[in-house]
Amino acid sequence: MRRVAIVALLSVLVSSCVGRPEADATGEEIYLQLCSNCHGAQLEGGVGPALGPGTNAAEQPDEYLQVTIVEGRGRMPSFSSSLTNDQVGHLIDYLRETQAG
Ligand code: HEC
Repeated sequence: MRRVAIVALLSVLVSSCVGRPEADATGEEIYLQLCSNCHGAQLEGGVGPALGPGTNAAEQPDEYLQVTIVEGRGRMPSFSSSLTNDQVGHLIDYLRETQAG
C-alpha cells in the first residue's frame, strides 16, 4: 500500500513539473492551469486575446480552436506535448460553454 501511495505522489509531482494536467482534469481545470495566465481567468484576455462571448474565438469553428491549441498561433505556444486529444476536446467544450454565457 505504501508503495502505491509513493508512486501516486511521484506521478502528481512529475505531472505538475512539466505542466501536464491530470488525466481526469476537467476543461475548466485545464484552462485555469495552462491558459488563464495569458487569456484571463474569465476569458477576458491579457497577453492573449479575450476568448469569451462576442469575441473572434467565439465566431470560429472548433477546428480553429483545436489547431490553435495543438500547433500554437503567433506568440502563443503549442500545447501538443502537454495535452491529449481528449483534453483538447474538454478544453474546447469548456470554451464553448463559457462563450454561450
Ligand atoms: C504564453 C501566453 C499564452 C498561453 C499560455 C495561451 N495563449 Fe492562446 N493566445 C496567445 C496569444 C498571444 C494569441 C494571439 C496569437 C496571434 O493571433 O498572433 C493567442 C490566441 C489564441 C486563440 C485564438 C484567438 C483568436 O481570436 O484568434 C485561442 C482560441 C487561444 N489562444 C486559446 C488558448 C488556449 C485554450 C490556451 C491553453 C491551452 C492558450 N490559448 C494558452 C497567448 C497564449
